Amino acid sequence: MQSKQLLLLCSLLPLIQAQETVLGVYIYHRHGDRTTKAYTPTSLTDLGYDQVYSSGDFYRTRYVNGNESTAIYNISPNIVKLSQLNVEAPVDNVLQNSAQGFLQGLYPPVGTALASQTLANGSTVSSPLNGYQLIPVNAVSTAATTSSENSAWLQGSSGCNNAIISSNNYFYSDEYMTTLNETAAFYQSVLPVINTTFTSKTDTFKNAYSIYDYVHVATIHNKTIPSSSLLTTETLFQLQTLADKHEFNLAYNSSDPIRAIAGSTLAAQILSQLNTTITGKSKQQIAVQFGVYSSFLSFFGLAQLLPLSDNFTGVVDYASSMTFELVTNATVSNVSYPTADEISVRFLFSNGTAAANPLTEYPLFGQSSTVISWPTFVSEMNKFAIGDQASWCAACGNTTGTCAASSTSSSSSSSSTGAAGASSGSGGMSRAVAGVIGAMVTLAVILGLEALVMLLGGFRLISKKRLAGAGAATGNGAAGVKA
Ligand SMILES: *[C@@H]1O[C@H](CO)[C@@H](O)[C@H](O)[C@H]1NC(C)=O
Ligand SMILES: *[C@@H]1O[C@H](CO)[C@@H](O)[C@H](O)[C@H]1NC(C)=O
Ligand SMILES: *[C@@H]1O[C@H](CO)[C@@H](O)[C@H](O)[C@H]1NC(C)=O
Ligand SMILES: *[C@@H]1O[C@H](CO)[C@@H](O)[C@H](O)[C@H]1NC(C)=O
Ligand SMILES: *[C@@H]1O[C@H](CO)[C@@H](O)[C@H](O)[C@H]1NC(C)=O
Ligand SMILES: *[C@@H]1O[C@H](CO)[C@@H](O)[C@H](O)[C@H]1NC(C)=O
Ligand SMILES: *[C@@H]1O[C@H](CO)[C@@H](O)[C@H](O)[C@H]1NC(C)=O
Ligand SMILES: *[C@@H]1O[C@H](CO)[C@@H](O)[C@H](O)[C@H]1NC(C)=O
Ligand SMILES: *[C@@H]1O[C@H](CO)[C@@H](O)[C@H](O)[C@H]1NC(C)=O
Ligand SMILES: *[C@@H]1O[C@H](CO)[C@@H](O)[C@H](O)[C@H]1NC(C)=O
Ligand SMILES: *[C@@H]1O[C@H](CO)[C@@H](O)[C@H](O)[C@H]1NC(C)=O
Ligand SMILES: *[C@@H]1O[C@H](CO)[C@@H](O)[C@H](O)[C@H]1NC(C)=O
Repeated sequence: MQSKQLLLLCSLLPLIQAQETVLGVYIYHRHGDRTTKAYTPTSLTDLGYDQVYSSGDFYRTRYVNGNESTAIYNISPNIVKLSQLNVEAPVDNVLQNSAQGFLQGLYPPVGTALASQTLANGSTVSSPLNGYQLIPVNAVSTAATTSSENSAWLQGSSGCNNAIISSNNYFYSDEYMTTLNETAAFYQSVLPVINTTFTSKTDTFKNAYSIYDYVHVATIHNKTIPSSSLLTTETLFQLQTLADKHEFNLAYNSSDPIRAIAGSTLAAQILSQLNTTITGKSKQQIAVQFGVYSSFLSFFGLAQLLPLSDNFTGVVDYASSMTFELVTNATVSNVSYPTADEISVRFLFSNGTAAANPLTEYPLFGQSSTVISWPTFVSEMNKFAIGDQASWCAACGNTTGTCAASSTSSSSSSSSTGAAGASSGSGGMSRAVAGVIGAMVTLAVILGLEALVMLLGGFRLISKKRLAGAGAATGNGAAGVKA
């Protein structure tokens, strides 16, 4: 009896030792299928809802309630523990709804039996919709990530002055000029397909993505596309490839890293979140952020994925996700948590909803292994990560607005590192005095902002009431036209 148990133990031992534990995960996710950007506001379609939902369901099986070898350490399998999750999306219909759809797959309704509470007076209350679980989606608050699906212009929403200038420079590059010239006839040839929205003047490579987006959405949702005979497989491929080229060049340029600001800020968020998981010993294990394709492209460039395949220069499909797993081979229990040196990061990417497209490992930073030790990961990411407001303002060359306060302190700190030993911070002032002035400026800015908010808040109250009346009127009008 005893020897049998011993034998069993021995046979299990090597398995247990080789067992990898997932300590936490960061997922960056594109939204699902949506309506075209040509008609705002864009919205998530049923197809898109299904894509993000099935992606959430895929990750549920992988990380939450499935196979022990991939399940995240200590994760609550059925009833969500809000402290274990951090879900973010910019304030945008398509992205917020995508996040919601994903969460419905990640933590589906648990049934009225599990989702019920007994009140003080003894009666039992069940949550609505068969135990639907409410999970908040936080608004991404960084100055640099307010991208919206309503805007066609990729860099404008970043608000980063130097990045806007850099992306704009693409339109003056030889590469762009040549492509614009060479594709002029091609674009005019598809004009009959898109002439309800584009004119012969706007039907050029300059609008490559808008045109592709319009046609792409139509091919998915519209049975009757005008002059659809023009849309051969070859033409569709050409439209897509040209859009890829256009968008990639706006998102990344190896000799001008500020263009990839979206990837830099994302890198800082990934680092900080994974660090939270480690320092908190897996108290908060899952972070999910929804965002736009440009961040994928910028990040791919910065993380040196381009040499692996040209695929990384193409716009990723709807509901794509890239995943950073914190993994370890060390023993993990409630009394022993691995040290930073014993933890590694594995990078994976799925092109389209992970439910239908393989989640594939890729090596980052030109390394040979797809599993990179945490210290190496941190130092490689820190080569391009931009996290705090001051570095963002400095890198972007912004000095007004939210950067008005930090520009004083960042310029004094950069000058103090530049001129070693110099006693002056800015213009002969001692650093302590400069600091006090900086704090006063900050205070003034905050007070000013408060006044502004109060002013705007008051104004909004009035205008919303007016809007309601106007909206009702136009609503009737529109209904009349439609009927
Ligand atoms: C768990 O994963 C292992 C390794 O991938 C696999 O061999 C096993 O079949 C999986 N078990 C279940 C229940 O899916
Ligand atoms: C118990 O309290 C809830 C909430 O206040 C109330 O709706 C319900 O009617 C109460 N039940 C009884 C049996 O008093
Ligand atoms: C940065 O500067 C640009 C150009 O001046 C401006 O459009 C943008 O709003 C600024 N961004 C912030 C966050 O202040
Ligand atoms: C990339 O950046 C360099 C340096 O700023 C510039 O000369 C070049 O034209 C840019 N290329 C593209 C395609 O934007
Ligand atoms: C674009 O094409 C036109 C006509 O073919 C030509 O005159 C012009 O020089 C070309 N421009 C560039 C930048 O190649
Ligand atoms: C669009 O092109 C088609 C085919 O050439 C033509 O019949 C139609 O009148 C055009 N529509 C507009 C708005 O120009
Ligand atoms: C399909 O395309 C036609 C012609 O452009 C347009 O009138 C119609 O509204 C479109 N239908 C949908 C569902 O987008
Ligand atoms: C992780 O967080 C700890 C504690 O806040 C901090 O000391 C450390 O520098 C952070 N590491 C990284 C890589 O951000
Ligand atoms: C690039 O994409 C093609 C087509 O989807 C695929 O066959 C190939 O494996 C991909 N390459 C890499 C490195 O992912
Ligand atoms: C994802 O798929 C699209 C085609 O739908 C392709 O253009 C792109 O290169 C792919 N990206 C990667 C990283 O495989
Ligand atoms: C754990 O060990 C296996 C087998 O040696 C190895 O393939 C894997 O990369 C290791 N994982 C980590 C996080 O070191
Ligand atoms: C650790 O977990 C074991 C079994 O799951 C439990 O008996 C023990 O009380 C836990 N210890 C602490 C310090 O939480």
